[in-house]
Amino acid sequence: MLHLERVRAGYGSTPVLHGISLSLESGEIAAVLGRNGVGKTTLMRAISGTIPCNGGNLSFQGNDLGSLSAFKRARLGISHVPQGRDIFPKLTVAENLRVASSAVGKSRGDDLEDLFEQFPVLAEKRRARGGSLSGGQQQILALARALMSRPKLLLLDEPSEGIQPSILDEIATTIEQINSEHGIAVLVVEQNLDFAARVAHRGLMMDKGEIIEEMDITQLSRDRALQRRYMAL
Ligand SMILES: Nc1ncnc2c1ncn2[C@@H]1O[C@H](COP(=O)(O)OP(=O)(O)OP(=O)(O)O)[C@@H](O)[C@H]1O
Ligand SMILES: [Mg+2]
Repeated sequence: MLHLERVRAGYGSTPVLHGISLSLESGEIAAVLGRNGVGKTTLMRAISGTIPCNGGNLSFQGNDLGSLSAFKRARLGISHVPQGRDIFPKLTVAENLRVASSAVGKSRGDDLEDLFEQFPVLAEKRRARGGSLSGGQQQILALARALMSRPKLLLLDEPSEGIQPSILDEIATTIEQINSEHGIAVLVVEQNLDFAARVAHRGLMMDKGEIIEEMDITQLSRDRALQRRYMAL
């Protein structure tokens, strides 16, 4: 459903992505792995349209994304949960969710109740401010918010970052459920290999602005030498 061919992007005159090629099938979860600063976040931004591409081809379900704004890509079904989650700390949980549906020009009042049913932790906290939630609860809020636009593809940038180990399991289960119950494809950036091995079907290793290899994540998560070589862990 998603195809990138030699995509180039960066910031101003600084290139970061030097020709990224990758494909994601519908219903699939793939993980993008790689050490700090190789361009994983930049790749997510280039797909969601947060930054423009300066070369190559990018398509989603047969639509050429190259000339489309982030807003139009969101309407096509691409939803991006950025690194650090970016929820609105002063808005309540319910307001955070409502803002998301109006941002893509879709009014989804009834979806809110569905989401509260699916995520009881958010229902309990619906009147609490986003900033008062724990890291794990904020991540669940960010995932629920991304679902408000009824996406077909979720881009998740380090969902496990800054989350207590005891809550990681719940976040992984949430991602698995989103994928299996709604058939939503997921491209997830991760540095936590155990987490990536659990949720993803495929691993794509990134280095210096390129996807260099497809990886067996379970094998990578057990092999320290491979980790040192590819992830500098
Ligand atoms: N907004 C920005 N403006 C200018 N340069 C940026 C910007 N964001 C990132 N960069 C640079 O682009 C390169 C790739 O950064 P990016 O954030 O994509 O890496 P990453 O793989 O996501 O790293 P991390 O694992 O730390 O999240 C880095 O050299 C970074 O300094
Ligand atoms: Mg990043």
